[in-house]
Amino acid sequence: MKVSDLRGILQYVPRFREKTFVVALDGEVAASPNLGNLLLDLAVLRSLSIKIILVHGCGAQLLQIAQERGLSISSSDGTGVTDDVTLKLGIEASHAVLQELMQGLASVDLRAAYANVIVAHPAGILSGVDTLCTGKVERVETATIQTFLNEGIIPVIPPLGFDGEGRTFRVNSDAVALEVAEAMRAVKIIYLAPKGTLQVADQLVRQLSVADAEEIVRQRRACGDPSLLSKLEYSARACRAGIPRVHLLDGTQNEALLSEIFSHEGIGTMVYSNEYQQMRRALKKDVRAVMSLIRESIANAELVKRSRSELLALLDDYWLLEIDKNLVGCVAVHIYPEQNLAELACLYVAKSHEGQGYGRKLMAFAEQLAAKKGAQYLIALSTQAYNFFQQKGGFVEIGPDELPPERRRKWEASGRNSKIMRKPTELVHPRPASTQPLS
Ligand SMILES: CC(C)(COP(=O)(O)OP(=O)(O)OC[C@H]1O[C@@H](n2cnc3c(N)ncnc32)[C@H](O)[C@@H]1OP(=O)(O)O)[C@@H](O)C(=O)NCCC(=O)NCCS
Repeated sequence: MKVSDLRGILQYVPRFREKTFVVALDGEVAASPNLGNLLLDLAVLRSLSIKIILVHGCGAQLLQIAQERGLSISSSDGTGVTDDVTLKLGIEASHAVLQELMQGLASVDLRAAYANVIVAHPAGILSGVDTLCTGKVERVETATIQTFLNEGIIPVIPPLGFDGEGRTFRVNSDAVALEVAEAMRAVKIIYLAPKGTLQVADQLVRQLSVADAEEIVRQRRACGDPSLLSKLEYSARACRAGIPRVHLLDGTQNEALLSEIFSHEGIGTMVYSNEYQQMRRALKKDVRAVMSLIRESIANAELVKRSRSELLALLDDYWLLEIDKNLVGCVAVHIYPEQNLAELACLYVAKSHEGQGYGRKLMAFAEQLAAKKGAQYLIALSTQAYNFFQQKGGFVEIGPDELPPERRRKWEASGRNSKIMRKPTELVHPRPASTQPLS
């Protein structure tokens, strides 16, 4: 591990301290050889004063017990029908997982307790079919969970619910994670399942807005992996319910948990409500950070040299792209009202975030802003990124005569001989805010 990795982790510590994460383990992950590593990762999170609530499934164990005894079961994941045999085996499977977890947590010096906190009622008759002992979460006993958390104890919540008459119901663990997270105002749910991430055309989807997650669930309901779709569905519901981020991770991958939480881009699929990335106007307090962001690019003569006072004088024109509240890019839009023209300037994306589409997003943002302010054309001047503007932004080269007079004088005086490019602006009406990572 490098010292810079530790610095990277430390920036998250104040934000997550005393916050609650719900970690939901599929039964298969609980049975995997990676369980020990995951529990060690939980110990790291606890040492950073993050409150952990552990929710687990038991589908894999239930299937295994049924197979060993030659019994047939009606459902393994707490959805559909749960008949008496399935419920009995489900309780046994759940206890087996619980035992495994308690043992593992003790081995990494974490105190944990079984938390019987899910109040459930029958899921009922769905599409004409009686689901028998399948339950629906009615309520979460938050006071019990809170007592455990206050004492530094990790509550471990099984996929079982109980009603006021002591009857047991089998509930789905993805749903339990959502209900618990909502009731406890958690800031994250982390779903860990084998192959638990979303892949499209063999490519990992790293981030997904709520609306996109809902669309995927809608389109693939009939043919996708049911476990993944269930997690996507509950992720979207969680984000709609005010939990900012839900992470879908491959729970069999070593270090998955820490790599996901302590890096900007992570290694799993993150479903987010919209605060994750944002464009905002630069403020006086940002000047130092902007100067240090663009310093190297100025040194390489990619960007025009700007002094602190020059930046301050035009501060209202500057916009910042933040990811996880960290500054990763900027762009300025200067308006020339007499010529109905706007200039895109100071476009910069931090080296660590290059090649991920942020440059194009900033360019598109500048165009939208220019159009909204009534500019018919957007111009850009560049010494080294002119191909980027032409190939990715549709700009075409123009001569200096087409610049506003005062801008032309500056262009000549700079001696940079930048290429000058222009494109007509087009106002695209945005999709609803909830589907826009950049808002
Ligand atoms: C130019 C810059 C903003 C691109 O940011 P980015 O976030 O990496 O851009 P995106 O991820 O949206 O796009 C990447 C694509 O642009 C291409 N690209 C990036 N920089 C380029 C350049 N200088 N010239 C030509 N193409 C470039 C990449 O090869 C990639 O192509 P691909 O999608 O076909 O693989 C960034 O490299 C930067 O900050 N450069 C230094 C500052 C600068 O020159 N600013 C412009 C003057 S105002």
